[in-house]
Amino acid sequence: MGVWILAVAALVGAQAPVDPQDFLEKYGYLHQDHHIHNAVEVQLAVRDFQWLSRLPVTGQLDEDTLLQMAEPRCGVSDEGSQQLWAQRVHVIFTGKNRPQHRSKRSFTQVEKWYKRHLTYQIVNWPQHLSQGSVRLAVRAAFQLWSNVSGLVFQEAPGGPADIRLAFYEGEHNDGSSNAFDGPGGTLAHAFLPRRGEAHFDKAERWTLNGHKGHNLFIVTAHEIGHTLGLEHSPVRHALMSPYYRKLGRSLVLSWDDILAVQQLYGKPPGQRLVRLPGQVLHAVLQEWELIELQSRPEALGKPVYCQNVFDAITIDQNQSVLVFRGSVYWTVSAAGSVSSPMPLRQRWPELPSAIEAAAFSPLDLKWYFFKGKRIWRFTDRSLDPGFPKRSSDLGLPRHPDCAFYYAPLGHMVVFKGSRYSVLDLKTLRQVPYYPRQLTDWIGVPQGTNGALTHVDGRLYLFREQQFWRFDPVKVRVTREGQWAKDLSWTGCIPQSNRIL
Ligand SMILES: *[C@@H]1O[C@H](CO)[C@@H](O)[C@H](O)[C@H]1NC(C)=O
Ligand SMILES: *[C@@H]1O[C@H](CO)[C@@H](O)[C@H](O)[C@H]1NC(C)=O
Ligand SMILES: [Zn+2]
Ligand SMILES: [Zn+2]
Repeated sequence: MGVWILAVAALVGAQAPVDPQDFLEKYGYLHQDHHIHNAVEVQLAVRDFQWLSRLPVTGQLDEDTLLQMAEPRCGVSDEGSQQLWAQRVHVIFTGKNRPQHRSKRSFTQVEKWYKRHLTYQIVNWPQHLSQGSVRLAVRAAFQLWSNVSGLVFQEAPGGPADIRLAFYEGEHNDGSSNAFDGPGGTLAHAFLPRRGEAHFDKAERWTLNGHKGHNLFIVTAHEIGHTLGLEHSPVRHALMSPYYRKLGRSLVLSWDDILAVQQLYGKPPGQRLVRLPGQVLHAVLQEWELIELQSRPEALGKPVYCQNVFDAITIDQNQSVLVFRGSVYWTVSAAGSVSSPMPLRQRWPELPSAIEAAAFSPLDLKWYFFKGKRIWRFTDRSLDPGFPKRSSDLGLPRHPDCAFYYAPLGHMVVFKGSRYSVLDLKTLRQVPYYPRQLTDWIGVPQGTNGALTHVDGRLYLFREQQFWRFDPVKVRVTREGQWAKDLSWTGCIPQSNRIL
């Protein structure tokens, strides 16, 4: 049987690096006893998986089903989710709880907490997010649940605590099937009550409001659901759906999430539910992050972006470097002094937060910003008439990796994945014969998150903590390194340690 499954997976090729049998075993659709399954078992397992994933229920391992298996998701098994959901629906129609019929788990133990006031502790921290931001994300995630149920949460920073949250890499002492798998794939997992543990893959790029990476608030909120006793939901917009989703416009909690938590812990005092749409929560998180950033004493004289990933970077006509992240930006003057974080909307009120690329152009002395499908252009602080424009109207891709003015071409260059585009700033049209392959830029990797031409005339490209220096004369990369350690003009090397 296993051979047949592998053959199907091979058809889909590189897009589905998941072995369907391993997947169905890992997530509770097939037993793991001896790894041998007959065709009927596999078909039933595939049907159950398709049902929970809202795919057409055919029992066939078709391409869509295999692709769905490769989506980023929660590492908790889906076993039992279907029965629990059926039970929630039953309660809606009859108003009564029915005894649980759960074949594979002992039902002597009801998986919930017997108190309403719970404490939590963040045991350790991820790499690319400050402790303050992690704390905010976690606090908001607990509030999400306390705002719709009878539960109350309180942080106990020094422990002991009922619920502990921790970041781990690879195997971390809860069995090889729970080992984390690096970026993508499994993002996190948690245990049902009353173990009170939620684990997050430390290797993920966690963010609060960036377009790139996975939103820690959403993933934490989902895992907290498990620590409270909730299992996966088949409802499309449910937070407890096993698949990762972005913080979008819709409500974060669906009726199914609320029903599930209220069946265990009741309604909030005064029956007053507070449910906010994703956009509002996004704004709340940003406001908190800004306050947190502005109130923190600068750790070891370094601005907070130095140990993080930034959204975009550029350099202005005065040789000040601007670093953008979330709703703020920093400036590093030519003399090396770093500003405090300043709100983006204070200088460019029409700009959304978490932009994806930024470029000051010395040609027309204008600022260009890119996010999603749109481009903004500013003269100093004022938005130019007719902007924002759609990237597609200018012949540019959406969600660019980075953008920079490139003097040798006399145009703006935009990188996206394996290709790059060239924009004529006078006509606002893509130059003919582009886009071309990124391999023209010898030594430059894909997926850079920022680029600028420094006063030395070389192009610097950034990806996470790394940089690549591209020499326009030799037309190749001539140096690589860690920008926060090696480039003093990033503002990350304390003045006293700088070699002049
Ligand atoms: C919870 O409700 C309070 C108001 O009662 C609100 O200020 C807060 O933003 C809400 N938090 C979440 C995460 O919904
Ligand atoms: C550059 O410096 C000049 C003089 O100090 C200042 O007036 C101008 O606003 C600066 N330009 C930018 C883009 O910051
Ligand atoms: Zn889950
Ligand atoms: Zn774990």
